Amino acid sequence: MNSTGTNSAAEAFRRLHDTAPVGVWSAPGRVNLIGEHTDYNDGFVLPFAIPQRTWVAAASREDGVLTLATVEGDRTVTAEPLDVSEVEPGGVTGWAAYPAGVAWVLRQQGITGGAALVITGDVPRGAGLSSSHSLEVASALALLGLSGRNASRSDVAKWVQVAENDFVGAPTGLLDQTASLCCTDAHVLFLDVRSGQQEQVPFDAARHGLEVLVIDTRVSHSLVESGYGERRRGCEEAARLLGLPSLRDAETWDGLPAHLQPLVRHVITENRRVQDTVELLRQDRYEEIGPLLSASHASLRDDYRVSCAELDVAAATAEEAGALGARMIGGGFGGSAIALVPREVRGEVERRVAEAFAENGFTAPRTFVAVPSAGAGRDL
Ligand code: GLA
Repeated sequence: MNSTGTNSAAEAFRRLHDTAPVGVWSAPGRVNLIGEHTDYNDGFVLPFAIPQRTWVAAASREDGVLTLATVEGDRTVTAEPLDVSEVEPGGVTGWAAYPAGVAWVLRQQGITGGAALVITGDVPRGAGLSSSHSLEVASALALLGLSGRNASRSDVAKWVQVAENDFVGAPTGLLDQTASLCCTDAHVLFLDVRSGQQEQVPFDAARHGLEVLVIDTRVSHSLVESGYGERRRGCEEAARLLGLPSLRDAETWDGLPAHLQPLVRHVITENRRVQDTVELLRQDRYEEIGPLLSASHASLRDDYRVSCAELDVAAATAEEAGALGARMIGGGFGGSAIALVPREVRGEVERRVAEAFAENGFTAPRTFVAVPSAGAGRDL
């Protein structure tokens, strides 16, 4: 656990409220090793939690009011105080909509108390690493913790999804919340979204001399406005035309209108790639997952069409420079890519990707090595 982050959230709370918080809760961002745009099709995903987290220092308030502040270094931003019994979708915009949406959904579960939340964090924003979900999950655990109520992690994940879909207005699936809540140190989480079944699969790339390099393209994406919703509706339409409950059950795209066929092909092949990756990891054949990552990228680029020039340059250049495989992660249209790199070529991959971005006139990318880290919890 990152005690510096916990302590600085508690310290920020003390500075703003002249008293210690009752507790500090935190939740990580995530990398999805493979299994993209499969979650809302009832399919398979394979994420791990990254070390970067959002911390929420919190205390109850007797007056039913929710106060929200974010602290970044010397900068504090405070949102309009909200009456928890009155907060409704559409009433809050910007970053405050995430914790407000969580308070709104918890109210429907009978958890209604006011609270003061002070938020800090280091998950890069708009980078496809789930910064907003980490804020929602940490807020949910804080409000739940203050209320003294218990809930299962899968219930919390579902509540956070409702907040995200119906309050924030982003039609996302269950991948990000579940990753933030249920991932564990040194493992990837093999999640079957349909059944809710989870398996923690050991993931120790370092033992194989490998690293997962995250390349943040700095192209900011919004799941509220992007083609995300359009893809999701396309999948729903395809499932309806195939007479299936969801594309999880699809075995062919034959007979579908031409514009839906590639969507279905992506979902079918991506679910297979997730299962194949898990199998290779179980057998300790780490190097062999590289081609599956690259095939996932090609499928997202050509069939699902959610990539962008920066993600394509990042993935292609990483491979040319010696990565075993590379792919965009998250919703797409910006955000981050990952590359599976032998440790000794990481520097070369970073250098060549930076060069390619400069040559193309793109903003310089940010890179870091992601290691599977702990999921959300109470830190203090
Ligand atoms: C975003 C969404 C997830 C998932 C991915 C694509 O991260 O929040 O629910 O659909 O995109 O795999």
